[in-house]
Amino acid sequence: MKLGKRDVLFLVLIVALVAVLARHRGSEQGKPVPLDAVHRPFQEALANGAAREATEQGCVRCHATAARPLPPGHPPKEQCLYCHRFAAPRH
Ligand code: HEC
Ligand code: HEC
Repeated sequence: MKLGKRDVLFLVLIVALVAVLARHRGSEQGKPVPLDAVHRPFQEALANGAAREATEQGCVRCHATAARPLPPGHPPKEQCLYCHRFAAPRH
């Protein structure tokens, strides 16, 4: 089969679309949650079966306050751990 102009254009469009989606996916992912003394209890609670939604309620105690504001233009807040994964656990 010979590749016509239209086939090439179609391929280019697909590749561009995938690239845009991949970039967008990356931009939704926040920085990992550090595994320090402050954040480790949250990770342990989750590991012990606590609900993610309930655990996240604790995040705003420190973040999203005047003392530790989220960056301007930060995505809608409540589901922190959907976008911020914990740093890779150490074994
Ligand atoms: C007791 C206060 C406190 C609580 C509760 C807390 N954090 Fe934090 N968080 C901090 C502080 C202080 C820092 C910056 C210092 C550090 O890296 O530990 C930080 C840093 C972070 C960072 C990294 C920011 C960067 O610049 O890399 C993320 C992401 C984060 N927190 C998410 C969360 C999430 C998600 C939760 C809930 C599961 C949470 N935090 C709960 C105090 C808190
Ligand atoms: C929809 C995805 C999403 C959700 C939900 C979300 N974040 Fe973020 N967060 C991001 C992205 C993306 C960035 C980077 C934003 C930027 O650089 O402007 C970020 C940045 C941050 C930072 C600053 C880290 C830095 O770049 O210095 C902190 C702290 C943080 N988020 C904490 C939280 C907390 C706490 C919650 C829950 C209350 C939360 N996030 C919910 C996506 C999310």
